[in-house]
Amino acid sequence: MNLNQIKTIELPKILDDRGNLSFFESNNHVPFEIERVYWIYDVPGGENRGGHSYYQNQELIIALSGSFDVVLDDGFEAKKYTLNRSHFGLYVPNGIWRQLENFSTNSLAFIAASHEYDENDYLRNYETFKTFKK
Ligand code: TYD
Repeated sequence: MNLNQIKTIELPKILDDRGNLSFFESNNHVPFEIERVYWIYDVPGGENRGGHSYYQNQELIIALSGSFDVVLDDGFEAKKYTLNRSHFGLYVPNGIWRQLENFSTNSLAFIAASHEYDENDYLRNYETFKTFKK
């Protein structure tokens, strides 16, 4: 996997006088079957999340509220994506080192994942990741 496979996905946004509604569906707006969702919130100022890669798990990351940066690295180059709109998702394939940082106050990161939680699917050492990507 490399950075070319990363996509920003614009999700449906239904507007009416009562406010906005967005949604996404497995294998439709999201290019995988969703097995799990989780969310990250109340991140203290200056803290980072992530700092790992997955062997199999793919994700769609959305800033449902506030903003944060997602730094993605394919082992050869890194790119920073700022998420701050609740109808845009960042598709992150497996095999990409990812870190979430620069969380705004009250930000809410919502993540849809292709696999159930499995610690054995994590690659948490950056040097091992680099070796794995060669
Ligand atoms: P981790 O994935 O390391 O968090 P982040 O990548 O955001 O820094 O997970 C932190 C802890 O939460 C770790 O002990 C595993 C646990 N966890 C689950 O039990 N289920 C899950 O779906 C996730 C994402 C984490």
